[in-house]
Amino acid sequence: MKNERRELQDKVAIVTGGGRGIGRAIAAKIAEAGAEVIVADIDSALAKKTAQELSEEYGEPIGVQVDVAQEESVEAMTKMALKKFGRVDILINNAGTMFRTRFQEISVEEWKDTLLVNLTGPFLCTRALLPTMKKNSYGRIVNISSSAGRSVSTLGGAHYTASKAGLLGFTRAVAKEVASFGITINAVCPGLIDTQMVRNTTTKEELDAFMNSFPIQRLGLPQEVGDLVVFLCTEKASYITGATVDINGGDLMI
Ligand SMILES: NC(=O)c1ccc[n+]([C@@H]2O[C@H](COP(=O)([O-])OP(=O)(O)OC[C@H]3O[C@@H](n4cnc5c(N)ncnc54)[C@H](O)[C@@H]3O)[C@@H](O)[C@H]2O)c1
Repeated sequence: MKNERRELQDKVAIVTGGGRGIGRAIAAKIAEAGAEVIVADIDSALAKKTAQELSEEYGEPIGVQVDVAQEESVEAMTKMALKKFGRVDILINNAGTMFRTRFQEISVEEWKDTLLVNLTGPFLCTRALLPTMKKNSYGRIVNISSSAGRSVSTLGGAHYTASKAGLLGFTRAVAKEVASFGITINAVCPGLIDTQMVRNTTTKEELDAFMNSFPIQRLGLPQEVGDLVVFLCTEKASYITGATVDINGGDLMI
C-alpha cells in the first residue's frame, strides 16, 4: 500500500446500501482510495459485517443501520456521521430495490415502496448531507441509477424504470443548484451487474440469454462500477456535474 495513490485521503464517505453487491464494492473502492467509509444499510448486521470485513484490508470502515426511505432514520445516520467525523464529503446514493412485477399487477403499495427507496431515499440523504458539504465548500454525490432510467429495465417493472428515470432528473436539478458550492452530483447507470439483486430474480437460462445479447458478452462486475464511482469522486472529475454515465458492456448505446 506504501506507494499507492490515495486519491480520497482525508475524505469521509457514506455509501447507502453498502452491505452487499454494488454498494459493498463501491465502499471497498472508496476505502481503498483512502477515505473514511460509513457502510449504511437497512440490514444492520450486514452493514456491520461488511464494515468488519473491509476493515481487514482498508482503514476502519464503520457499519450503521439506515432506512433511506425514512426521514428520521436518515437524520440519525447524518447526526452520527457528523458526531464521529465532523463532516461528510462524499455521498453515494446506492440503496435500491427492484421488483419484476408486470404493470397491471403492480399494487399501489409496491409502487410506493419502490419510489420511496429508489427516489425519495436519495432525496432525503442528499437533503440531509448538503448542509455539511456547503459549509466545507466541497462535496461529491453519486446517484446509482440504471440503464432502466435511460431506456427501460431489462428485469424490473414500470415502477423501477420510473424511479431510476426520476433519479436522473433529480441529479440534473440538484447539480444546477449546488455547483456554486463546490459540490458535484452525477448519476451512474449500470447495465446488468452480477449481484444478488440480479441472481435472486433470474434463472440461469435468462442470464445466459441476456449476456449473449450484449456486445461485451458477460455481466458487469460490482467493482467495475466501484472504479467508475471513485473516479467521479476524485479531483479529476471536478468539471463533471449533472452527468449521466453509462456502464453496461455496450448493451445500451445512446
Ligand atoms: N445489479 C444490477 O444489475 C443493477 C443494475 C442497475 C442498477 N442497479 C442499482 O444498483 C444499486 C445496488 O444494486 P445491487 O444489485 O447491489 O442490489 P442488492 O440488492 O444486491 O443490494 C442492495 C443493498 O441495499 C440495501 N437496501 C435496500 N433497501 C434499503 C433501504 N431502504 N435503506 C438502506 N439500504 C437498503 C440492501 O439491504 C442491500 O444491502 C441499486 O440502486 C440498483 O437499483 C443494479
